[in-house]
Amino acid sequence: MKKITVNASKKYDILIADNLLENTGDLILGVAKPQTVAIITDDIVDGLYSKTVENSLEKSNLKHIKYVIKSGEESKNGNNFLKICEFLAENQITRSDLIIALGGGVVGDLAGFVASAYLRGIDFIQIPTTLLSCVDSSVGGKTAIDIESGKNLVGAFYQPRLVICDYSTLNTLSDEVFSQGCAEVIKYAVIGNTELFSHLQKNKKDFDREYVISECVKMKRDIVQRDEFDKGDRQLLNLGHTIGHAVELKSNFEIAHGEAVAIGLCMIANASYKKGLCFEQTKNDIINIIKDFDLPVSASFSADELYKTALNDKKRTGDTIKLIIPYSIGDSRLLKIKTDEILSFIEEGI
Ligand code: GLY
Repeated sequence: MKKITVNASKKYDILIADNLLENTGDLILGVAKPQTVAIITDDIVDGLYSKTVENSLEKSNLKHIKYVIKSGEESKNGNNFLKICEFLAENQITRSDLIIALGGGVVGDLAGFVASAYLRGIDFIQIPTTLLSCVDSSVGGKTAIDIESGKNLVGAFYQPRLVICDYSTLNTLSDEVFSQGCAEVIKYAVIGNTELFSHLQKNKKDFDREYVISECVKMKRDIVQRDEFDKGDRQLLNLGHTIGHAVELKSNFEIAHGEAVAIGLCMIANASYKKGLCFEQTKNDIINIIKDFDLPVSASFSADELYKTALNDKKRTGDTIKLIIPYSIGDSRLLKIKTDEILSFIEEGI
């Protein structure tokens, strides 16, 4: 088992191993003494993993309740946020109790935001069950819901007490959803890890899960410790996301987040090459690895459509925005540009 400690506004461990779910109860008792544990999960994960978690809680004499949302991004909304808060209140959940977010990014973001706001904050534990949530969304305390005007526009920075990353849960992911998580893994490698990039090039989807997840989590830990509140370096994690978010939004979420990130990575690689910011080899390496992982490299939206959508990006400050440029594999950096310059990046990226 790998244990990675995050030293942010809260100090907590990320445990990475297979078959950890059956020890959930004891792992919780190592960090908290709740009377009741409230599991928040979705209807797919519920059928797969709730029983194992509940059995483990019972073995550790922990009372538990459960709230199940429908799987999918549409569930990350204000209505569900309030319904879960009511459910916790009706079940007399107090600040000495604890929430478990059992699932992927949607469950983690929603349950984490509930934890940040219910009774002005109660402890929560992330148990990610998708590759994307193992390597990215379960770590670093970003929690949020979507509103009409955009994705993740209401939320809080609120760190979990513990992250239990049991990568045997990845065995039940469809090939498609597994690939979507791979886009975030590739992103980490391009940001700052050439060894990870070589490992992915060599092993493709048969990569060593403990090694790959740990490398991504260590990188995220380091970035979050430097910039927990996303004012500088943390924005590096948005490599491929400025254009990717625009693709995701324009498709009305028909293109999944991971696929949109893959497209965003290819477009920023293309644009960086055409603008003389990276070598042709870097651009080719990025596009080839995206193809090797069965991810899309382009979408059929016009530059103008994507530009208008990208203008709503919340990373924007006044009339400037920071784009993340892959100067070479393992060396991505922030580049501050005028907001209207994104158009030419998108045009070059297509
Ligand atoms: N997923 C990007 C971040 O946590 O900052």
